[in-house]
Order: sequence, then structure tokens, then C-alpha cells
Amino acid sequence: MVETMEWQQADKTLLLLDQTKLPQVCEFIPCKDYLRVKVAIQRLEVRGAPAIGAAAAFAMVLGAREVADAPDFLGALDKIRADLITARPTAVNLAWAANKLYALAVELNKQDNAPYKIIKELEKTAIKIYDEDIARNKKMGEYGAAVLPENAVVLTHCNAGALATCGWGTALGVLRSAHAQGKLKMVYADETRPLLQGARLTAYELYEDGLPVTLITDNMAAWTMRTKGINAVVVGADRIAANGDTANKIGTYGVALAAKAHGIPFYIAAPVSTFDFSIASGAEIPIEERAADEVKCFRSEQTAPAGVATFNPAFDVTPAELIAGIITEYGVITAPYIENIKRLQEQSKEDF
Ligand code: MRU
Repeated sequence: MVETMEWQQADKTLLLLDQTKLPQVCEFIPCKDYLRVKVAIQRLEVRGAPAIGAAAAFAMVLGAREVADAPDFLGALDKIRADLITARPTAVNLAWAANKLYALAVELNKQDNAPYKIIKELEKTAIKIYDEDIARNKKMGEYGAAVLPENAVVLTHCNAGALATCGWGTALGVLRSAHAQGKLKMVYADETRPLLQGARLTAYELYEDGLPVTLITDNMAAWTMRTKGINAVVVGADRIAANGDTANKIGTYGVALAAKAHGIPFYIAAPVSTFDFSIASGAEIPIEERAADEVKCFRSEQTAPAGVATFNPAFDVTPAELIAGIITEYGVITAPYIENIKRLQEQSKEDF
């Protein structure tokens, strides 16, 4: 399994796998300051909601080291936190991790701890977020594999794998667990235009790890459901509202509609850090819009008139009524979502 990132404790450097170069080149970017991590998040060198969260936690450690001697240490750290969370607006794990580390710094400061002591604790917490992410994904994998049928033929969209997390993956973690149990017959991976996370990353990591995978283009999803015996869809999430509405990579909503039309259960797999309990519905989820060239070009080659208008939302929102279940590390949540997500919030309080 490929490593998404590595924290080098001795020289306080975050190594990030440059996912923009995969699958051709496997190269790590050494990040020694928080701004380099922010830029990596913006460029999608590190991407996927849980991976962004863990990278943001390490960025807070780097940032705290940079302002350790500032007269107003907490004020300076808060500015870093606020700046960092602007890097990408949709994946809530980014704000979750940055806010969690800042709240810890505030708490430790109240107890009269010096900045160097606070930084030590921030580092421990960032490492814990990283380590726990893998453990949470494995739990999600067990719960998710249990809801899949024998001989599962699963369609997935974008990359919610080891590369989108600290390891194992959310949606692809479910598929890894199902594969380990001998339940997985085939995964159909949408290529995921415009940035091809499905082709470059999902096909790559499943193929490398010996899971059965077939790559399709996005416009083949409905026909593949009709002709290839798809019996489940499993995707990840970037933000889940309190009523179960779920933001994920653009194209997910269309996949959910096609699954509904074919009577195929559509599952989301995501950790509690991807829930935004503060928003009532998907209407409140900010949707990132990215550069026009991502639509007008295929990688670096221009494929459309230079001046044509474009619309490039990076995410869409799938309404809760299209979702058969949300697979979390605490179990699988089904409708009624408002009540059951409230219960999850209670159950997972210590995670926030
Ligand atoms: O733009 P990206 O590549 O960060 O989008 C990623 C996705 O939409 C993933 O499906 C989502 O973050 C789930 S990651 C486990």
C-alpha cells in the first residue's frame, strides 16, 4: 500500500507524496513550513478529505514552530489556522483538524504552558490523528464489508483510498476488507474527470495491491450498472450535513441517481471527522470551484476553445434520500438520518 505522507520527527518535516504526478512518478515533497503544506493542499498534491485533515494537523505543528517566539503566540497561531482552512473549502476534515489543534493550544496556554511545551503536545496530537485515521478506516472496512453481498461487483467514484487518507482508505478500505474476506468480485472505477483521480489513483492503488479493478470513463457508469451486474456503489465523502446530505467529488450525485434507477444500494464511507454537525442540510455546504483550464484542457493539452465559458465545481451534493447507508467507524448509519446522525454525534463526542 502506498504511503500518502510521513512525518519526520527528527527534522520536523512533513513528506507528502505528490499525487499530481501519479501514476507515472512517485515523488515526495518535503514540507518544512505550514505555507508549503497549504500550497500542496491547494494544488491537490495531497488530497482526499482525511489526508487533507492529517496534513493540516502537521501544518499547524509547523506553523506553531514558526511563531513560537512571537509576542502573541496564540494570536499568531490563530492567523495560521484561519489561513490554512481557506486552502480548500469543501472537505470539512481540514477545518476539523486545524481547529482541534488550535483549541488544544488555547487550553494548554490557559494552564500556563510555554509555547515549546504546547508545540510538543500539538505534535503528539497530529501524530495521533494520523495513526487513528488508519485504525478508523479498518473499522469502517469491517462494518462496510458486512453490508456488501457475496460476489460484490462495486462501482466507485474518485479516489477514497489509501491515497485519500493516512492508509487503507474509506470507500476503498471497505473494498479492501471485502477482498480480504473473499467477497469482492470486481470494482468498476470511474475515471473522474476533470482531474482523473479514479484513473490515476484508484485504478493505480487497487491494481498495485492486486484487487480486481476495471477502469471506465464517467459517462459509462449507468450503462455499466445495467450490463455488468453492479450490486453496490461505495464512495467517500468530503462533508456530511446533519441530515445526511453528502458532498463528494463532482459526478457522485449522478452516480447516486443512476444507482437509484437501477435499484442498486448507494453507500457512503466516511469517518466522523467528515460530518459537519453544525449544518442542517447540504444546501449549506460550500462547493469549491476550480480553474477553467481543468475543463478546457486534458492534462496539459487544450481540448476546447480558449475563450469558451466553463463551470467547474469540484464537488456535488447527494441528497440523503439517495443514500442506503453511511459507513462510519462507529457502524453503519441508515435512515432516519437526522435522529441517527444525532446519536453518532453523542457517541463520538470525544473525537471533537
Ligand atoms: O478533489 P479531491 O481529490 O480532494 O476529492 C476527493 C474526493 O472527493 C474523495 O472522494 C473524498 O475526499 C473522500 S476521501 C476518503
